[in-house]
Amino acid sequence: MPSIPANPSRRRWLAASAVAAASAGSVSALDAPSLTGPAEGPPAAGERQRLRIAFGSCAQQSKPQPIWQSIRKSRPDLFIFLGDNFYGDAQDEATLRLRYREFAAVEPLQAFRRDVPHLAIWDDHDYGTDDAGGDYPLKRLSQQLFCDAWGEAPDSPRRRRSGIYDAHHVQVGARRVQIILPDLRFNRSPLHADQTQKQSYAALVMKARMSGQPMAGWYQPETDPAATLLGEEQWAWLAQTLEQPADVRIIASSIQFAAQGTGWEGWANFPREQQRLVKLLRDKRAEGTVFISGDMHYGDISCRDEPDLYPLWDATSSGLTEVWDVPTPNQRRRSEVLAAENFGLLDLRWDLDQPLLEFSICDIQGRVRLRQQVPLAELQLKKERRP
Ligand SMILES: [Fe+2]
Repeated sequence: MPSIPANPSRRRWLAASAVAAASAGSVSALDAPSLTGPAEGPPAAGERQRLRIAFGSCAQQSKPQPIWQSIRKSRPDLFIFLGDNFYGDAQDEATLRLRYREFAAVEPLQAFRRDVPHLAIWDDHDYGTDDAGGDYPLKRLSQQLFCDAWGEAPDSPRRRRSGIYDAHHVQVGARRVQIILPDLRFNRSPLHADQTQKQSYAALVMKARMSGQPMAGWYQPETDPAATLLGEEQWAWLAQTLEQPADVRIIASSIQFAAQGTGWEGWANFPREQQRLVKLLRDKRAEGTVFISGDMHYGDISCRDEPDLYPLWDATSSGLTEVWDVPTPNQRRRSEVLAAENFGLLDLRWDLDQPLLEFSICDIQGRVRLRQQVPLAELQLKKERRP
């Protein structure tokens, strides 16, 4: 479950709303009243028809974090922390524990958490260290520290699964929004790096800065059929989770799903896993699926055209404090790049004649800098494509 905010009105909001845990194989009761968050002011007489989810990633605990004021002003119903929520970069237990204490002391972030319903996943830096995967030696300890810091109950399944993956749902009037939180670190196979590129990193950065030309990272797609991003336990859970009914499904992915050719971390490094997810969405007839992601230290919006499914949109917001201003290639990019501190908004609009999803990437002043509207009707399986 999301952490229960200390503010009494927000506690009531959360209790009355249906931000509910959807454990593997079961759906929590959804007979609670419709969600009544602050984005639309006082609840209207009719049923609720809008939902605003904010999201972000990459918050360095040693830096000021004024962006939380702008996120708060955008009045989200829910915030999703997409990982690198602090920078642990720990090779030993004492350092990891120390970094968690530093995270707990970031008052602007923690004050926001006290007031706004939220969910969280981790990425490499708060899981353990840069680009870490399943071989990170402190991962069991890290899992428990994560669950402690994010208010997971002692019997939370996130404490005992092979990773912190989880799912929730929100009821918006008659519609159900499923939020899927995969773990892309705990079971991940080693990355396949081009060592020559890695060794000439400084020269590559300088060349890119001087030329303004994109600079790809050093990771190559892993074609070994045994390589995994999720691990079999999590794949089985995801298959069950996608059987639960939903009008919209939001997959909160710590790394980019749709981007292609960045050379940095992303689902594209595991093309078999990427295609496995596309096939699973198709096999389960899971319609209305979109991705939000982080990690890159810039914001952009990407899309994979899937002829046997529907377009898979992926809005990336990164970072809350971290900024990478060297251009990075991405063959699936459908927006400009925002190389400045940013946060994301996903507005779900059932109040329009044509229901709509609207992605916005906002700067530190809260101004919308990138925007993409996606009609919900475009995220449906066409009849002739149904399996
Ligand atoms: Fe990351």
